[in-house]
Amino acid sequence: MSRNALQWTQKPEMPAGLYVDPRIYTDPEIFAEEKAKIFDKTWMIACHESEVAEPLDYRAYQHPGGHNLIVLRGEDDKIRAFQNICPHRGNRLIYDVAGSIKGSSPSGAPDRITCIFHAWSFDSKGNCVDITRRKAGYQDRLKECDVGLREVRCEVGYGGFVWVNMDDAAMDLAAHLAGALDDLAPMLAEPMEVFHYHRAVVRGNYKMWHDTNSEFYHDYMHYHNRVTGMLKKEYWDREYVAYNHGHAKLTGMTLKYDAYEGQEQRTLAWPGMAPAGWELVDLFPGITYNIRAPAFRLDTSIPLGPNLLYIEFRGLGLKRDTPAERAIRIRDHNSIWGPFGRNLAEDLLGTSGQGTALNDSTEAPYVLHGRLEDGKIHDEMGMRHFLEEWSRRMGRSSSDPLNRGLGLAAE
Ligand code: FES
Ligand SMILES: [Fe+2]
Repeated sequence: MSRNALQWTQKPEMPAGLYVDPRIYTDPEIFAEEKAKIFDKTWMIACHESEVAEPLDYRAYQHPGGHNLIVLRGEDDKIRAFQNICPHRGNRLIYDVAGSIKGSSPSGAPDRITCIFHAWSFDSKGNCVDITRRKAGYQDRLKECDVGLREVRCEVGYGGFVWVNMDDAAMDLAAHLAGALDDLAPMLAEPMEVFHYHRAVVRGNYKMWHDTNSEFYHDYMHYHNRVTGMLKKEYWDREYVAYNHGHAKLTGMTLKYDAYEGQEQRTLAWPGMAPAGWELVDLFPGITYNIRAPAFRLDTSIPLGPNLLYIEFRGLGLKRDTPAERAIRIRDHNSIWGPFGRNLAEDLLGTSGQGTALNDSTEAPYVLHGRLEDGKIHDEMGMRHFLEEWSRRMGRSSSDPLNRGLGLAAE
């Protein structure tokens, strides 16, 4: 039976942990709080070490907390992260998305970051090395050692990714991951290289994208997955494993690519995996490691607003790949996950469809996360586990974030 407005916006007749209030996806106040309580306090992947391959290479990162960061490989080969802000009068230091500070810049000396405004300059460790006409203007009231860059915590690991954390007091990366990537250690042991990068801007919330990566019930959307995965018995044996701090893993399987007309079974492996094997780990609050041998895809979410999301997609191969192997990985990656691949556009359609429809907050229905199938692949425990962590960090229940207690229509 169809429902009227009151019925449509009432809470579902099921325990609170099995549905969420749609305003966690659209409310500006909740989003502002997420930036402070979640994104500014946790580990995010800014890029991969291969994107700053040489000393003095840099890459910008738009941190979801609203900060523009520079990831810079130092002359000592160590990768560091800095706020992209000059300590003099707050000018942006680097405008390009990626490049190198090797050599001189139009207004500065070689191998330095030089602010274009008043030409203060900094070395690759973030030390200020020159305040122009310092003595004349500041006498002894200010010295270079007083005005270094703001260095942000940075660790490189778990496949050579560059992780950053705005919170100087946060737990270290290994503690945050709580073992979620331990089973992938054999797959992440060899040096890797980014061979593909693209991004999507979606009208939707970052949690919707993470939901999509965390539930496989929507495999009905993917013809490719239905044919190569769902028709195999072992697909139904895949199980979710939950880790502390909101992370979850789905146990692996071997796909049957040759069941897709015109395709062949994959023969090129990935270290630690069988050819055509598939491993997936979702990390709170918006990172997914997704390896379908022979290719690796990494998703990183950068929310720009409660209902506007920028997703970075990277494809990775092994640094030691021969040209022939790399070509296979690229072709395989792009055929499934490239902008015109068989799967990715479908997932984006689901998330943007939710974002568009739920943005009408006056009549948005509660969203169901209520499938219970013993933790197997169509169970929705991955999403629920994520939302438990979200609720803990936010101090808000995901099913009743504004403490209304009643259905939306009753306010
Ligand atoms: S703002 Fe950078 S040198 Fe003045
Ligand atoms: Fe999908």
